[in-house]
Amino acid sequence: MHVDHERRQRHRDMGTAMTIPGRTILITGSSSGIGRETARLCHRRGWNVAATMRQPEEERELATFPDVICPRLDVTNEESIARAIQETIDRFGGIDVVVNNAGYAVVGPFEAASAEQMERQFAANVFGLMAVTKAVLPHFRSREAGTIINVASIGGRVAFPLFSLYHATKWAVEGFSESLQHELRPLGIRVKIIEPGPINTDFYGRSMDRAPAEALNEYHAFTERTMTALRQFGPRGASPARVARVIVKAAASQSWRLRYKTDLMGRLILLSRRCMPDWLFNGITRTAVMR
Ligand SMILES: NC(=O)c1ccc[n+]([C@@H]2O[C@H](COP(=O)([O-])OP(=O)(O)OC[C@H]3O[C@@H](n4cnc5c(N)ncnc54)[C@H](OP(=O)(O)O)[C@@H]3O)[C@@H](O)[C@H]2O)c1
Repeated sequence: MHVDHERRQRHRDMGTAMTIPGRTILITGSSSGIGRETARLCHRRGWNVAATMRQPEEERELATFPDVICPRLDVTNEESIARAIQETIDRFGGIDVVVNNAGYAVVGPFEAASAEQMERQFAANVFGLMAVTKAVLPHFRSREAGTIINVASIGGRVAFPLFSLYHATKWAVEGFSESLQHELRPLGIRVKIIEPGPINTDFYGRSMDRAPAEALNEYHAFTERTMTALRQFGPRGASPARVARVIVKAAASQSWRLRYKTDLMGRLILLSRRCMPDWLFNGITRTAVMR
C-alpha cells in the first residue's frame, strides 16, 4: 500500500513540477521581515498567496497584488487560524504549502521573565505553530499531499545567553518537526525546517520582548555587555530576501529533504557547533557575546 502511495505521489509530482505557478501558499507573520519577503517572492513566482497577519487593515502593499489575499491570523487564536485557512481554500481552491513563520523573542535573563512572558513566548512560537499545522492537516490528508515549512532558527540547534526562552521554543520546533516528518511521510505530506542565522529584520527591534532585569542588579553588567554584542548581529545579518529564496525553494521542492540553511553566518555557526566539543563552542560563544 505504501509503495502504491509512493508511486501515485511520484506521478503527481511529475505533473505538478510543471505547474508550480498557480499553487497556493499560506504564510503566517507576513506583516514584516521574512514572512513579508516570502509573500512578495511567491507572488513574483506566480503562486497564489495567503499572506496572513494579525492586522491586515494596516497592510498597504501585499493586499493590492492580484492573487494575494491577507487573511487575519493570530497564531495564538484558533478561530482566526480556522477562518484564514477556510478563506484561502474558498478563494484558491486549496492549499499546497503552509509556512509557519510567525515568531519573536523574549530577551533577557531567564530569572527576569514573567510567567506571562514565558507563556506568550511558547504560545506564539510553539503552540501557535502546532495549532496552524493541526488545522491544515485534514486538508493535506484529504489531498494526500502538502508541505509544512517551519521557520526555526540556528537558535534551534545552538544557544546564546539571554535568549533561553526563545531557544527553548526553537529547539522544540526542531524536535517537533523532525518527529512529525516520519508520521506524515507515508501520507504524502512533507515537513521542512528552515534554519536562518542572523537576519536583518524587526526581530532585533520592535518584535523583541525585553525581560525587565533592572531590579536584578547581579545581572546588570552581564546583560548590558551581552546585549550590546547581540544587538549588532541583526543589522549585520543577511537580508530577509535571502531566507525567502530558500523558503520558496523548499516550498517548490518535491524532495523529502528536512533541513535548509539560509545564510553564510548561520552555516558557519552550525558547522562550528558540529565540529567542536561543547567546552570549545561554548567558550567561543561566551567570548564572542560578552566582549
Ligand atoms: N531575524 C532573525 O535573525 C531570525 C533568525 C532565525 C529565525 N528567525 C525567525 O524568523 C521568523 C520571522 O521573524 P523575522 O526575522 O521576519 O522578524 P519580524 O520582522 O519581527 O517578523 C515577525 C512576524 O511574526 C509575527 N507574529 C508575532 N507574533 C504573532 C502571532 N501571535 N500571530 C501571528 N503573527 C505573529 C509578527 O506580526 P506583527 O507585525 O503583528 O507583530 C511579524 O509579522 C520568526 O519565527 C523568527 O523566530 C528570525
